[in-house]
Amino acid sequence: MDKLLIKGGVRLQGEIRIAGAKNSALPILAATLLTHETVQVCNLPHLFDITTMLELLGCMGVQPVIDEKLNVEIDSSTIAHFSAPYELVKTMRASILVLGPLLARYGEAEVALPGGCAIGSRPVNLHISALQAMGADIVVEDGYIKASVDGRLKGASIFMDMVTVTGTENVMMAATLADGVTTIENAAREPEVVDLALCLIEMGAKITGQGTDTIVIEGVKELKGCSYSVMPDRIETGTYLIAAAATRGHIKVKDTRPDILESVLSKLEQAGADIKVGDNWIELDMHGKRPKSVSVRTAPYPAFPTDMQAQFTALNSVAEGTGSITETVFENRFMHVHEMNRMGAAIRVEGNTVIVDGVDNLKGAPVMATDLRASASLIIAGLVGENETTVDRIYHIDRGYECIEEKLQSLGAQIRRLPA
Ligand code: EPU
Repeated sequence: MDKLLIKGGVRLQGEIRIAGAKNSALPILAATLLTHETVQVCNLPHLFDITTMLELLGCMGVQPVIDEKLNVEIDSSTIAHFSAPYELVKTMRASILVLGPLLARYGEAEVALPGGCAIGSRPVNLHISALQAMGADIVVEDGYIKASVDGRLKGASIFMDMVTVTGTENVMMAATLADGVTTIENAAREPEVVDLALCLIEMGAKITGQGTDTIVIEGVKELKGCSYSVMPDRIETGTYLIAAAATRGHIKVKDTRPDILESVLSKLEQAGADIKVGDNWIELDMHGKRPKSVSVRTAPYPAFPTDMQAQFTALNSVAEGTGSITETVFENRFMHVHEMNRMGAAIRVEGNTVIVDGVDNLKGAPVMATDLRASASLIIAGLVGENETTVDRIYHIDRGYECIEEKLQSLGAQIRRLPA
């Protein structure tokens, strides 16, 4: 297994470009199953999870074509199977996103039931009950969600008991081809849900209310092809900004969207960062100063994102003062804490909160990544720490960060990949 070797202590400086958003690209790729016409998806990030989604389409008989500009064209008319096998679902839970589109367009779908993962139990009961409310017949047996519907799905009024991002996306996609109007209440307001809705609208769907907690979808008979460019990745953006703040650096991130990062930027300002923004760029300057601790509480958008708390834990670990991080979305998202403590951090877990007493500096150590965002936080810890840190199990990072070592190197970091 590859590892990353980091020599810490360098202030990050320079400019980088942000890639397309993983969590927007994944549902958009699944949405291509909703039409027999060709959909072109542009600004796809080069990530392992994207490859897995393309592989999943491939194993259903759909062959994505990559053009000379690395855009992907998908013509799903060659589909031959309506099934997402366990081998792929176990490597990427977002495979569940094909359930709604397959059911809506072909009236049947079999998707392996995702199990728990490193950040929590993560059930998909709300995806299932919403599709049942739309008339689907669903059983869970032999480890698979087996769904079918006689004719078209029917529009329904759905109240989501919890705010779920992929749950909202699955139901919204299914509803585009249903008979009648579907209303999703307590819908996720995440920018990635909005990006998917905008792509579906380009494909001819009738959707309103995306970005609010009530999304209304009027089903249409069929959708058509389109060309759609995926929005920038707000979590990748935030991760580099936090890395720069933790190392007392000065960076500019380009091709991004400051308007969807308000909660994160305001925490970085509280940490002492001087932040300037333009339409599609953000510049962060610590003026060489040590960051100040901040406290955050995760919650669905527009509140502070769960995908960003581990990185703030790394920042707090070397900041002035004490900060707390409260996680309310997933039950087990603190695995990075024990690894950071091995690097000399002073962090304790109290229920769903971690209390971080900032120390003068961390010391390099061998550490192990447990999930995507935890890996990012350990890299940040390695970038600030004295001496060398090796981060093991970095296949997690390759799922969600495009060319991370090249981007960090271009900001001056001493980081390289050690092949297995
Ligand atoms: N939940 C249920 N039942 C359901 C669905 C969700 O109880 O049927 C619970 C979950 O267990 C969790 C909460 O609701 O406690 C929210 O989970 P959600 O469904 O919103 O998460 P998700 O859709 O599986 C997406 C992102 C995650 C991100 C979360 C929260 C994608 C592909 N994944 O997951 O991204 O953390 O929303 O914002 O969009 C990542 O990129 O590293 C990542 C984990």
